[in-house]
Amino acid sequence: MSRIFNVAVVGVGIGRSHIVEGYVPNADKFKVLALCDLNQERMAAVGDEFGIERRTTDFDSLLSMADIDVIDVCTPPMLHHPMVLAALKAGKHVICEKPLVGSLAQIDEVMAAEKQSSGKLMPVFQYRFGDGIEQAKAVIDAGLAGKPFAATVETFWRRDADYYAVPWRGKWATELGGVLMGHAIHPHDMFTYLMGDIDRVFGRVATRVNPIEVEDTISASVLLKSGALASLTATLGAADDTTRIRLVFENVMIESDHAAYNPGEKLWKIQPRNEATKAAIDALLKDWKHVPSRFQTQMERFHGALVGTRPLPVTSADSRRSLELVTAFYHSSSTGTDVVLPLGTDHPLYQSWVPAQFRTA
Ligand SMILES: NC(=O)c1ccc[n+]([C@@H]2O[C@H](COP(=O)([O-])OP(=O)(O)OC[C@H]3O[C@@H](n4cnc5c(N)ncnc54)[C@H](O)[C@@H]3O)[C@@H](O)[C@H]2O)c1
Repeated sequence: MSRIFNVAVVGVGIGRSHIVEGYVPNADKFKVLALCDLNQERMAAVGDEFGIERRTTDFDSLLSMADIDVIDVCTPPMLHHPMVLAALKAGKHVICEKPLVGSLAQIDEVMAAEKQSSGKLMPVFQYRFGDGIEQAKAVIDAGLAGKPFAATVETFWRRDADYYAVPWRGKWATELGGVLMGHAIHPHDMFTYLMGDIDRVFGRVATRVNPIEVEDTISASVLLKSGALASLTATLGAADDTTRIRLVFENVMIESDHAAYNPGEKLWKIQPRNEATKAAIDALLKDWKHVPSRFQTQMERFHGALVGTRPLPVTSADSRRSLELVTAFYHSSSTGTDVVLPLGTDHPLYQSWVPAQFRTA
């Protein structure tokens, strides 16, 4: 029988979805033993719904609970950095919602703490899991796709005033960024996960849809290390919510499903450019075993990493790569220049990409 890890979920907004999709279906691997939220009413509703008796408003108290193995951080973005550092320091395993932290300096600090800790850290990128994206990944990893040529990534979602009624949203100090950090971060991660590392970015950011501090519309022209070209565009002013990734390779054209928040679930259009590739893809996918999407599989594989049977399904290095892209976008947009990746400690926005007038310290 596999070991059951005890979890404390901190923040019961998306944290409730972690329970519904991630922990309940993996009840042989995880048990949610505690909830932590400042909003007691909200916490009581979730606690009652799932029979979770232990409830606290004090995050620090979780750190000294010896029977808690995993701290799952689902609080607003500005709290991730201190909470992840404290949990790692306490030797807990940590799951943390996106964006992991708010700068390259912070992610490097977290990665150093991770090395010192007996706990493992897994950032959340749940869009990576499901039959559609995993079949595409299998075809690419098997070498069947061939040379990457070009791609487009569209994050066309809709966010209206009601969304920004939650006080932490739309502000640099608390959301840490806009559509780049909060929304397009998922499709952009899927894109690099499938097509490879970015070499340089010419990006523009704008605030066009809502009266907020952070950007809600972005676009970039990107050159990959492989030489492939891509364009990334996102806005929160679309008529509805659509995520669409199209990848053109030498032997195959791949198009994601368009479900905004779960594009990895349904089968993707994998269109071979020749008969040999078609036969090879058919053979590869012939005995495909269903992979549940989103948190169910991400948490299941996290368990595998905890018991040592598989690597972490998402790593802090993956988060660093996504935050490098965000940093490059902001720098490119403010300077009108092409930004070459990777970005190190000498980059002007290494400490912070927040515009000077919004910096608190
Ligand atoms: N992976 C995804 O697809 C996805 C989707 C939505 C949100 N998110 C991320 O999840 C995080 C939370 O977003 P949300 O939409 O659930 O926000 P939310 O505001 O609905 O929920 C956050 C909860 O955290 C609680 N909280 C705030 N400060 C706290 C503290 N000091 N200690 C304990 N609890 C505290 C709040 O009371 C609130 O209930 C954000 O980082 C967001 O970007 C990710």
